[in-house]
Amino acid sequence: MHAVRDQGRSLDAALAEFEDLDDPRDRSLVRELCYGVLRTLPRQAALAGALLHRPFKRADRDLEALILVGLYQLTDTRIPPHAAVAATVDAARAMGRTWAPALVNALLRRFQRERARLLDPPDPTPEVRWLFPRWLLEKLQAAWPQHWREIVAAGNARPPMTLRVNRLKTTRAHYARQLGSVGLTVHPSQDTSHGLTLDRPVSTAELPSFSAGLVSVQDAGAQLAAELLDAQPGERILDACAAPGGKSAHILERAGGKPDLMALDIDPVRLERVRANLRRLTLSARIAQGDATAPDGDWARTRYHRILLDAPCSATGVIRRHPDIKWLRKENDIEALCDLQARMLDALWPLLVPGGTLLYATCSLLPAENEAQIRAFLGRRDDAHARPPAAAWGMARPYGRQTLPQAGGPDGFYYAVLEKSG
Ligand SMILES: C[S@@+](CC[C@H](N)C(=O)[O-])C[C@H]1O[C@@H](n2cnc3c(N)ncnc32)[C@H](O)[C@@H]1O
Repeated sequence: MHAVRDQGRSLDAALAEFEDLDDPRDRSLVRELCYGVLRTLPRQAALAGALLHRPFKRADRDLEALILVGLYQLTDTRIPPHAAVAATVDAARAMGRTWAPALVNALLRRFQRERARLLDPPDPTPEVRWLFPRWLLEKLQAAWPQHWREIVAAGNARPPMTLRVNRLKTTRAHYARQLGSVGLTVHPSQDTSHGLTLDRPVSTAELPSFSAGLVSVQDAGAQLAAELLDAQPGERILDACAAPGGKSAHILERAGGKPDLMALDIDPVRLERVRANLRRLTLSARIAQGDATAPDGDWARTRYHRILLDAPCSATGVIRRHPDIKWLRKENDIEALCDLQARMLDALWPLLVPGGTLLYATCSLLPAENEAQIRAFLGRRDDAHARPPAAAWGMARPYGRQTLPQAGGPDGFYYAVLEKSG
């Protein structure tokens, strides 16, 4: 918690340090506590603020993070309160400040005595009420006056776990039966041809034949990309921001493994995950490390029939999966992201054959990264036009379609299909 909240590390990176815990129950408890605190951070921080006589010094912010974890256990979990208090006091002792255990003990016990009053403050700030940073709340309210409350509620809820069944190895109905035989119930995820949403998330180790590539974990909204791109066998395809490879693999599965797919990413470490995913699924693609804003090298000399630009973005549509985004992302990041997306569009467009298609995708809910980005691009190119996707999912937006995060449904994605004059 301290690493994410005070040092700006991503939750995934911070949690990676706990992967070697022997007992899987400990690993999942660490995850549950960290995800939960980040989901509800303003509330826990306000409680800690109300209970502390004065704010912690900078050097003691780690201890404050521990207190947030203790409070979360008391407010949002079924961990018996005496166990939560005892474990938090033990952790404070392990952190080596002699005064800390008594302070933590007194603070958590006082919370228990006064919890009804503390949990119902008379005039909560918007952050405490909605558990989102104020700048993002304001942007969502402006962009989605009818929907922002549901967006925020879905962003604070637990995400569903959705699978993409590998059509080259099995069928959705058959795999659903295989899951049933190990006690896992699912329902077909709407709007996808091969998605199955589990009634309760499990680790991939519990999924039958996961290592043999029968199935991948992929949100339903993400599964719309390959359908919209509609790559055909024999075509040259560029996946310009490919890592960790979920959409690349889906593109290949959907077209019988036959497209000539180039998976590009700037991050060599993340490209290893593309390799591992394709290996598990026994799929093959060319893989290149490079910068989509500055085409160079072999991948840049090819002309592609279709390009997928799954651009780096604010990730405001996937906050329920990455609650750290709420606190790590800053308002002035948005402008830099928009600039990067525009440079990618401009640099990749010349790599498309006449008559080719570029699918622009983000997991953002902010119009600046979505329809405004596409409007500006179309204003710069007279050989580009947007074809409104013929689809029933989500909602039509200028130039494309958007899904909003929904309980049991997809994450928030925006897609625009751009065609190059022939
Ligand atoms: C939204 S993620 C892609 C997810 C991927 N398409 C999937 O479905 O698994 C964005 C990716 O863009 C990559 N990226 C960021 N800047 C880039 C650049 N200038 N050129 C190429 N890739 C870049 C990041 O490393 C990251 O892997």
